[in-house]
Amino acid sequence: MDGLTHPGDALGLYVHWPYCARICPYCDFNVYRPRGDDDALLAAILEDMAAWRARTGSRSLVSLHFGGGTPSLMTPDQLGQVIEAADRLWGLETGAEIGLEANPKDQDGFAGMASAGINRLSLGVQSFDDAALVALGRDHDARMGETSIEAALSVFDRVSLDLIYARAGQTEAHWEGELRKALASGVSHLSPYQLTIEPATAFGKRASRGEELSVTEDLGADLFDLTQSVCEAAGFPAYEISNHARSVGDRSVHNTLYWAGGDWIGVGPGAHGRLGRSTHAGRIASEALRRPADYRAGPVRHEESCLSPADDAAERILMGMRVVEGLDLNRLAAATGMSVDADGLARMKVQGFVEQNGSRIRLTRDGRLLADGVSGELVPDMEA
Ligand SMILES: C[S@@+](CC[C@H](N)C(=O)[O-])C[C@H]1O[C@@H](n2cnc3c(N)ncnc32)[C@H](O)[C@@H]1O
Ligand code: SF4
Repeated sequence: MDGLTHPGDALGLYVHWPYCARICPYCDFNVYRPRGDDDALLAAILEDMAAWRARTGSRSLVSLHFGGGTPSLMTPDQLGQVIEAADRLWGLETGAEIGLEANPKDQDGFAGMASAGINRLSLGVQSFDDAALVALGRDHDARMGETSIEAALSVFDRVSLDLIYARAGQTEAHWEGELRKALASGVSHLSPYQLTIEPATAFGKRASRGEELSVTEDLGADLFDLTQSVCEAAGFPAYEISNHARSVGDRSVHNTLYWAGGDWIGVGPGAHGRLGRSTHAGRIASEALRRPADYRAGPVRHEESCLSPADDAAERILMGMRVVEGLDLNRLAAATGMSVDADGLARMKVQGFVEQNGSRIRLTRDGRLLADGVSGELVPDMEA
């Protein structure tokens, strides 16, 4: 794959493991408490992979990503079975990224995960503050987060940290302290996420009753700005709105497929996928059945739709504008036959939110703060 912008033939595989030891009150992912049906779920995932292989034909994998949920609850044997099947069915390219999202509590299992073939770990440390971790409903404290980083670095070459900031009561000085700790921890990648209050979560319900769980919009903007400058000065420039890497080689290959409009297969309950190149009917969007019991039962495990050129273009614009390199308008036209909204683009340029260099447009620093709103102005209005 050529950096961030040219997925070409690249194919990824996303495996969603939906179980978590505890459900965090802010989390809106497709998650459940363990049901004791791991073997049956794994069997369904393996069957699903074989069914997808029959449709994609022969294409090798640039990445295999275990997300969740908490895939660090999977045993090395279970991980090994998926990795072996992926290699047998498609073939993992030399140096393919095999990533896993881990909870710090599962650190004793890191060596086993590496032996099974995992080569990149993203660790959900979320915060280095005990009180904040309690408020976030996490099942680990700050010390456990720190020891998990050491454990991960002793086993994996590529380690990333997830942090959640803009929590109620958090000041700029407090966030800067946490961020600096993460940057100095020895990892090569950082994903600092602003706390989002999702309506369908416990936090969503508490917020609707008037409880303050996150910071004001203004302070959120200041914290985002601070994140950009502190990370950049520490040699971790942003390559996407919420993702920072030491070097291009440290960027997430898996997420890059999303942002660059690449192809990936999604297996496991609720997993999304996109396939464009190997089909002749346009880009296919798939979403696996969300409930583990339905997914396990099969034989049909996915709902599918064929994206219209307008929907395909909208998605490519919204995702593509998230990366610092921005969006290539010629590529957008080649993939979808569509262009960005000319008036919207002109407006966003005048307001200083978007800049253009030849066929490439990208968000400015101010634009990144309002990314979704700004990119939304570029989506062509099909009804006009
Ligand atoms: C699917 S979780 C997987 C990681 C693992 N289960 C864990 O929590 O340690 C991916 C990341 O999304 C982030 N996240 C989830 N919900 C969020 C929210 N409402 N606001 C901000 N970040 C969130 C967290 O940083 C989390 O680590
Ligand atoms: S944040 Fe992670 S551990 Fe918490 S519920 Fe979501 S996926 Fe599970």
